Amino acid sequence: MEAIKDIPQTVDTLIIRFATHIDLARISHVAQVTWDDTYSDTIAVENRRDFLSSSYNPTNLAEAIDTSGHWFYVAEMDDKVIGFGHFIRRYHPTQGRAELIRFYVLPDYQNMGIGRSLLNMGFSGLTQAAIKQCSVSVQATNHRARRLYERHGFVYYRKHGQFLGTQIVTLAQYIRPVTNMDLINSHNQ
Ligand SMILES: CC(C)(COP(=O)(O)OP(=O)(O)OC[C@H]1O[C@@H](n2cnc3c(N)ncnc32)[C@H](O)[C@@H]1OP(=O)(O)O)[C@@H](O)C(=O)NCCC(=O)NCCS
Repeated sequence: MEAIKDIPQTVDTLIIRFATHIDLARISHVAQVTWDDTYSDTIAVENRRDFLSSSYNPTNLAEAIDTSGHWFYVAEMDDKVIGFGHFIRRYHPTQGRAELIRFYVLPDYQNMGIGRSLLNMGFSGLTQAAIKQCSVSVQATNHRARRLYERHGFVYYRKHGQFLGTQIVTLAQYIRPVTNMDLINSHNQ
């Protein structure tokens, strides 16, 4: 797997590691800031608030820590959690499958290669668990994230709708094979 060669100096201190219970309040904070920045034009404020207060409530997030079938990584810089990527196992009768369900980096830290490091670490973890395919659903209008997924090997599969409070959000679902090529040593991060 290609190592990050062209990242700015500030990313030297980047650590990608599994989330712990101590990180949960900070993950919740990162989600709030990044959701407001990303979705203020497309998701009504009350729907954002309701979703964040349930899905990103530290008590609810705790179920994903140290739990089989969850790969919940945080990006830490200068002792601060500044992003996260959460993969979960999805049932399939014959093939190991997973979905990337949460992927956020604080606005001030975006476009520095941190998302890429989270994805690389995640795919490596999935490979070790014999997962063969990973999917992700992204708001169809989120062209930046869609382009990023496409650059990371995800292939468009279909569009589907999902209720978010009082509105329906159109999502684009992508699928990516996970192979031994995704296996990396953590020091390559
Ligand atoms: C999506 C997200 C998690 C990606 O994290 P990130 O840290 O910004 O991702 P990266 O920096 O690895 O890559 C982003 C872009 O920066 C570019 N980039 C990577 N390293 C770079 C560097 N050193 N210098 C300049 N640009 C760089 C990448 O080429 C990529 O460009 P692309 O979109 O044209 O492919 C983050 O941007 C984010 O939180 N966005 C808002 C929320 C969101 O959309 N989440 C996804 C929900 S499904």
